[in-house]
Amino acid sequence: MPENDPIPTTDPCAIFDDWFATAKESEPNDANAMALATATPDGAPSARMVLLKGHGPDGFVFYTNVHSRKGREIRANMQVALLFHWKSLRRQIRIEGPLTEVTSAEADAYFQSRPFVSQVGSAASDQSRPLDARETYLERVAQIEAQYAEAGEVPRPPHWTGFRCTPTAIEFWSDRPNRLHERRRFVPDGDGWTSTLLYP
Ligand SMILES: Cc1cc2nc3c(=O)[nH]c(=O)nc-3n(C[C@H](O)[C@H](O)[C@H](O)COP(=O)(O)O)c2cc1C
Repeated sequence: MPENDPIPTTDPCAIFDDWFATAKESEPNDANAMALATATPDGAPSARMVLLKGHGPDGFVFYTNVHSRKGREIRANMQVALLFHWKSLRRQIRIEGPLTEVTSAEADAYFQSRPFVSQVGSAASDQSRPLDARETYLERVAQIEAQYAEAGEVPRPPHWTGFRCTPTAIEFWSDRPNRLHERRRFVPDGDGWTSTLLYP
């Protein structure tokens, strides 16, 4: 693997785009997978992987079931952290900030863009709730599949939506020779960003 370059001091969104594009080429799968950390209002944390489904200067978007554990935690406390670690690149990106729910139009458009089988799987899942047997889930899948086979698409369940994290900090970590790694943390500053190097 070539040695990582110094982290630029420019726009963190452009650095994200650059690193993400490189990760898509080098990661064996799911370069868009990121850990999502949530916390209850009294500060008990939990983390799980989700897929990044949109990003830009206005934030980082993922989709989920709002009745899930994360959904319940998000409803009570919109502050989250996102974490990418691309092992193939030896790079990490940490993002922190509050969430806002995407519009129904945005959630509908994304849900309808998913393959039919993914729509069925999401509609059939009571995410995070106990399941008596896997067959129960498979039966629900078969029932929803049959119900919408002719239409060829499943309506978006009202409890399935997306959230956008608007960063209040973006931090880049890059492996450098002799374990003298590099960290740079960006925070919003007026219309732009200001950055600080941190000891790794
Ligand atoms: C690589 C990967 C990607 C995942 N992507 C999502 C996702 O985009 N949305 C989602 O709700 N769950 C996703 N999951 C499942 C979650 O990690 C988790 O099991 C599920 O959302 C329930 O989490 P919760 O009980 O904390 O709410 C993904 C899991 C993995 C391993």
